[in-house]
Amino acid sequence: MQKLEQLYEGKAKKVFKTDDPKALIVDYKDDATAFNGEKKGQIAGKGVVNNTMTNIIFKILEEKGVPTHLIKQLSDRETLVKAVKILPLEVIMRNVSAGSFAKRYGVEEGIEFDEPTFEVSYKNDDLGDPLMCESHALALKLVTKEQLETVKKYASIVNETLKEFFLEKGLKLIDFKIEFGLYDGEVILADEISPDTCRLWDVKTGEKMDKDRFRRDLGNVEETYAEVLKRVKND
Ligand code: C5P
Repeated sequence: MQKLEQLYEGKAKKVFKTDDPKALIVDYKDDATAFNGEKKGQIAGKGVVNNTMTNIIFKILEEKGVPTHLIKQLSDRETLVKAVKILPLEVIMRNVSAGSFAKRYGVEEGIEFDEPTFEVSYKNDDLGDPLMCESHALALKLVTKEQLETVKKYASIVNETLKEFFLEKGLKLIDFKIEFGLYDGEVILADEISPDTCRLWDVKTGEKMDKDRFRRDLGNVEETYAEVLKRVKND
């Protein structure tokens, strides 16, 4: 497999073409952004943590029946993935109030929900990824009804699987964002699952073990990312 020219550079990853038109190489960076790019920084080692963690988790999800873009990890920071057409939806599931949910409804963080919530945002940087209702996603033809049902089914499996997985590591899964893509016409899980895209609170101390440490200037950012990876790997 040959790494060819760069196709795209995002906020946290670079994507390269390969000699196989159906496969891409994702290269995870240490760059960190928050608030739609308004806050910028670096988290040393983050690329390695997010790449490794995503691969571990995607393998587990495949076993649970969620197809993913993963082909194989190539190095600490690089993974060979299926070339998908990303659905322009950010899918967010929440188990506990936090972040934009707490802000939007004027409630405290930490309220446990009886049932997980499912929400979608329009993945559009210029518009600031606005929250949207499902009928708007359908009206804009961002997704078909059938694809949306599949997305919901997979998002629910991801939540149930990850809640249990992280709990075994002493981490409570508060919420997370996932993205899906189309590959040979099928919906598959793409992008990443990492401390950048999940809220994880330490079960014993309640400490935030995710990107909120960077967003909210809580300190020990690198150490926290390293600790999460250590727990995920059972080191
Ligand atoms: O900010 P908000 O509370 O809506 O975030 C919900 C979850 O989605 C958090 O785990 C956050 O890290 C993740 N998220 C993300 N990328 C975004 C927006 C949110 O990974 N663009």
